[in-house]
Amino acid sequence: PSLEKEFLPMYFGWFLSKRSSEILRKAGQAFLDELGSLKAFKKEIPSAIEDPKIKIDLTSYFVKRPPGVLHCTTKYTEFGKAAGAEEYAQQEAVKASYGKAFTLSISALFITTKTVGARIELSEQQLQLWPGDADKILPTDNLPRGSRAHITLGCANGVEAVQTGLDLLEFVKLEKAGNKGEQVGEIGGGKLLYFDNGMWMLVLSKKIDVRAIFSGYYG
Ligand code: 2AM
Repeated sequence: PSLEKEFLPMYFGWFLSKRSSEILRKAGQAFLDELGSLKAFKKEIPSAIEDPKIKIDLTSYFVKRPPGVLHCTTKYTEFGKAAGAEEYAQQEAVKASYGKAFTLSISALFITTKTVGARIELSEQQLQLWPGDADKILPTDNLPRGSRAHITLGCANGVEAVQTGLDLLEFVKLEKAGNKGEQVGEIGGGKLLYFDNGMWMLVLSKKIDVRAIFSGYYG
């Protein structure tokens, strides 16, 4: 028997391969470039209303970008301090999947005034690794399991990465309330929806599959 108590990672999640990270980063970059020069987008931005020729540089707006490979957090365990951390780590599915390869399906890209991210549609098997308490902003929220599944692509100055998942949950809450967004056109890769309050979603016509390993990040 080991004398050492096993210690938990900062978070568990799926870590994309280098190649898949590059593909997704590029897709995100193309999305920001196209959106920044789109008339319908500039209509919402005060500085662009004054000068219609302006191209909004969204890349320098979302200055905080994850270095290295991209990931989808499943459970933020905070080295064991977070609520439910031990319980999560002890689950059979978590132990059996540790170090195993998965294919994640990206169904949409989204931006808000704070974050840019990729929305993930988890399979039944992948949902077994999804914690029961993640899909809420308020304790009373009742959204489908896996609603929050995402990959952070960037955050605005002063915004923490945890915000991306909360922003995605805002979209899901609007969808649940029957707000399908206003379709403002087709841009490379899919149809662009506007949900008000600076919330835009590009629903991909062809989902992007990314390869990822389920593991823990220790910092
Ligand atoms: P993210 O999953 O939206 O990118 C390290 O900070 C990682 O853990 C980031 O990837 C971050 O967000 C995620 N994270 C940080 N705090 C969190 C929290 N309270 N709940 C869920 N995920 C969190």
